[in-house]
Amino acid sequence: MAEIRKPNAGAMRWLWKERCCSNVEVDQSGVWRFRELLHILRDEANIVSLREGNTPLYHLKKISQSTGIEQLFAKHQGMNPTGSFKDAGMTTALSVARELGFEWVACASTGNTSAAMAAYAARAGMRSLVLIPEGKIAWGKLSQAMDYGAVTLQLRTDFDGCVRILSDVVKCAPVYLLNSVNPYRLEGQKTPALEIAEAFDWEVPDHLIVPGGNLANSSALGKAFLEMQHLGLTTKTPKISVIQAEGASPLYRSLQDNAGETLHPVEAQTRATAIRIGNPASWKKAVRVIQQTGGWCEQVGEAEIALAKAELGAEGIGCEPASAVTLAGLKKLVKHERVLPHERVVLLLTGHTLKDSDYTIAYHRGELLRPDEMQGLAPEIEATRKNAAELDASADLVLRELERATIR
Ligand code: F0G
Repeated sequence: MAEIRKPNAGAMRWLWKERCCSNVEVDQSGVWRFRELLHILRDEANIVSLREGNTPLYHLKKISQSTGIEQLFAKHQGMNPTGSFKDAGMTTALSVARELGFEWVACASTGNTSAAMAAYAARAGMRSLVLIPEGKIAWGKLSQAMDYGAVTLQLRTDFDGCVRILSDVVKCAPVYLLNSVNPYRLEGQKTPALEIAEAFDWEVPDHLIVPGGNLANSSALGKAFLEMQHLGLTTKTPKISVIQAEGASPLYRSLQDNAGETLHPVEAQTRATAIRIGNPASWKKAVRVIQQTGGWCEQVGEAEIALAKAELGAEGIGCEPASAVTLAGLKKLVKHERVLPHERVVLLLTGHTLKDSDYTIAYHRGELLRPDEMQGLAPEIEATRKNAAELDASADLVLRELERATIR
């Protein structure tokens, strides 16, 4: 970093914005329009893009009232071409794989990485191998890998087991590994941070809250904000907080027990299958980002996640369960006065609501959570799920429901 001649920050900001109106394909990508900060390809002709990025930043009007955080926003990375934040890193890493001349790419995944990898590999005319834990990923994601033509192998193990098997496979076969330890994925995953800064006229928010699974995303975003500050594009870095599901919270436990010195893998359990990870590869980087930026790590329960997801849905936004941990975590951070009412907060929503529609339907039918899991949240949960019923085909019955809903 010290060796890089600092660019003219004003000129960079202008150029990146200007590219939004360009007809050139790479300019239209919300990742590659920032290509001055992505020194990873020799030849731009190798770029494989689905016009990822340029995702919306929404003001959360209702939730800002209920949490008391007036300036509360959601950066919705689920609005990417394959419906998750993985596209931002996949366009960069897959382009490198193409430039290096690989025919095959491979990943172990809880679902979203595999969907993104399969789509980008198909665009590039490459083959892809997906290892996923059998029965433990959402159907939407599994269907995507199949649809985009990946060799999709469901292994009778969990995500951590799939990672172990894949590391053996790549030692014996000429496949390019696209798990999140791939450094070029992290480069692409920096760009949502640039978009967030740009959206606030380069005044960065006070807090950025992200879900934590394999813990690559938090480190990519942290790297981006630190680089921006170094280059004079911004003057500060947001506090980056990572939220894990209670049943899959090795980072949280490590920070509580030994200030992030060591991490003990856990056998992960959560319905937020995207972050059902017990032995996260990038935990050391996540510890560094939390400590460097002054953020926190929290864990949240299954009922808190489900309620938060319903609240985001009721804003007309929606997301997959793993993304909703950010809102559940924000509530805890507000309660502990780590986030203050006047501060500007961005929640990073990582996946589209349609990724895991089974979860949403089970929640609204009252079939998702056991009573003992409700943790005193039963009334709030009940209030968010009074909108679904199955009736005989009768206008009278429909009118009665309409009346009941109006009174409520
Ligand atoms: N949110 C969603 C929707 C995810 O799919 C993931 C990770 C995360 C959050 C956590 O991000 O791993 O960078 O901390 N999904 C990976 C996958 C593991 O295989 O799709 P992280």
